[in-house]
Amino acid sequence: MEGSDSGLFHALGERASVSSRGFESHPFRIMMDSPIEEIKNKLDIVELIGSYIKLQKAGANYRAVCPFHTEKGPSFFVSPARQIWHCFGSCSEGGDIVKFIMKIEGVEFGEALRILAQKAGVDLKKISPQLTAQNKQKQKLYEIIELACKFFQKQLEANKDAKQYLLGRGVSEESIVSWRLGYSPEAWDSLHSFLIQQGYGADEIVNAGLSLKSQKSSKFFDRFRDRIMFPIFDLNSQPVAFGGRVLKNIKRQDGAQEAKYINSPATLLYDKSRILYGLNKAHLEIRKEDYCILVEGYMDVLMARQGGTRNVAATSGTALTPYQLKILKRFTNNLYTSFDMDLAGGSATKRGIDLAQAEGFDIKVVVLPGDKDPADLVLRDPELWKESVKNAKTIHDFYFSIALAKFNKNTADGKKEISKLLLPVIKKIPNQIEQSVWVKSLSDEIGVKEEYILAELNKISVSGNRIVKEESSRNTIKNRKELLEERLGALMIKNPAVCELMAKDDLKLVSLSMVPTLDYLIQNKGILGKEMPESFSQKINQLFLKSEIELGENDYISEFKDCLRQLKILCSKDRLRNMSEEIRKAEQEKNHEKVRQLMEQFSQETKLFEKS
Ligand code: CTP
Ligand code: MN
Repeated sequence: MEGSDSGLFHALGERASVSSRGFESHPFRIMMDSPIEEIKNKLDIVELIGSYIKLQKAGANYRAVCPFHTEKGPSFFVSPARQIWHCFGSCSEGGDIVKFIMKIEGVEFGEALRILAQKAGVDLKKISPQLTAQNKQKQKLYEIIELACKFFQKQLEANKDAKQYLLGRGVSEESIVSWRLGYSPEAWDSLHSFLIQQGYGADEIVNAGLSLKSQKSSKFFDRFRDRIMFPIFDLNSQPVAFGGRVLKNIKRQDGAQEAKYINSPATLLYDKSRILYGLNKAHLEIRKEDYCILVEGYMDVLMARQGGTRNVAATSGTALTPYQLKILKRFTNNLYTSFDMDLAGGSATKRGIDLAQAEGFDIKVVVLPGDKDPADLVLRDPELWKESVKNAKTIHDFYFSIALAKFNKNTADGKKEISKLLLPVIKKIPNQIEQSVWVKSLSDEIGVKEEYILAELNKISVSGNRIVKEESSRNTIKNRKELLEERLGALMIKNPAVCELMAKDDLKLVSLSMVPTLDYLIQNKGILGKEMPESFSQKINQLFLKSEIELGENDYISEFKDCLRQLKILCSKDRLRNMSEEIRKAEQEKNHEKVRQLMEQFSQETKLFEKS
């Protein structure tokens, strides 16, 4: 059955390449009812990928500039027929829609499925009937937060003061909608009773972080009251928590000021150390621009975006955490900080920055005029904001400028203080040459000989500062052998008849990593099944696209024969080279018997070589 099924699959694959949605009418797609297949059924890879990047038609396939590495020419291909993608550029990534979402959204497999299920309109519960209890609970919380978000949005429309406050701060109607800003009414339990009405339990509402239980009575009341509500989104743009800003600065009865912001507590969905506000909207832009502007607050994100910088996310007033850095790493290695850089030793900001540097981030500092925050600056002078971003200083320049502004470099004491501030920073520069440049500038600035500065530098120990080596860029220049082997595979897919021309024995010529793939093709006569072992499905997909892109109408049979012959010659040459090396060694060792044997082999191989 497998054979005939996959034969049909192949035939359909070919035919499907005529229309971009070829797979829709695919009989297996209907027969297969695994939830993943159901999702794949409902989504078309061209549409899906096309919603992230610009695809151009190229014959039966589509091509684009790869979103996963920097390149000028388009080496990223999408095959509607096989519903796969592959990049022939230096990243050589590829796979199906799930893999694409995992990569572009920077999420794990399960999360990618969830995103796709949502796009496909497939019931999440169906994805995994054995959803764990925790997942069910999470699902409930998502629902509750979503409802609350809608509730707050409605309230904002009804409350003139709140709306006016936002407009007055320069937040556009558009931003209000796209950030789903809201208002929580002043009443004690308006949201709570609304959610109860909707059928949720008080405990669930508490677990979502929205209600608190009164200590005196058994009553529940809303955590957020009379506040501007900023929903906090996960990477998939689902609200998971809220930040609420006071609308009026009312003194409490005890005389203390209401906290300016109240945030959701940690919940199953929300851990503030693992979230960056606004990243859901910014991550594609961050990848594209290859840097992320980090700001402090919700308002800064909104306004910076209004001001034309879209690669912005907020730490929400906390220091950068390792989790946040790990998420950012998926999108860029470059951070522009635009928050108060309190870099005094031991400060939280400094710790975050040190951590980021140790993780290999390159950091620049956006210096804002006055003590404006980005939100204020954008409101007053959007051009100046953009200018400041453009003129971001390297962190080292930044340290120098604060050190020099803080102390008098003309006094002995000042020189000492400046060095005390800067030496630890210089010490941390992983690159020796860069370090020496900074030693020299410090020496020039404070008028102290470099040798003394170096002596002081040697006294400092760098603790916990992992020096990050540059990842050696993947060697992408394929050698000739690899290219020949790939060509053979592509030809087998293009014209299954050629499979007959390759004997199992010929696999000995093939590099180990390609053996399973070519062996599969020989055994299946070039016909691709629907499920292939993970170990080489990516390779097959790549070969399939290669066959589509590179092989025009041609005499496949003679081309295949020619490739095979060339491969044999290549291997033969290789063997001859090895043998002559061995002969040389044997001669050195004066092992005459061995030399004789090797010479014998050598001449046999030469004869074979000449025959081919
Ligand atoms: N923050 C908080 N709790 C506070 C104060 C601040 O969680 N009591 C967080 C919020 O995420 C806030 C960010 O820290 O957005 C930055 O604080 P701040 O600069 O004071 O707030 P802004 O966003 O600038 O708000 P606004 O401009 O409305 O005063
Ligand atoms: Mn502010």
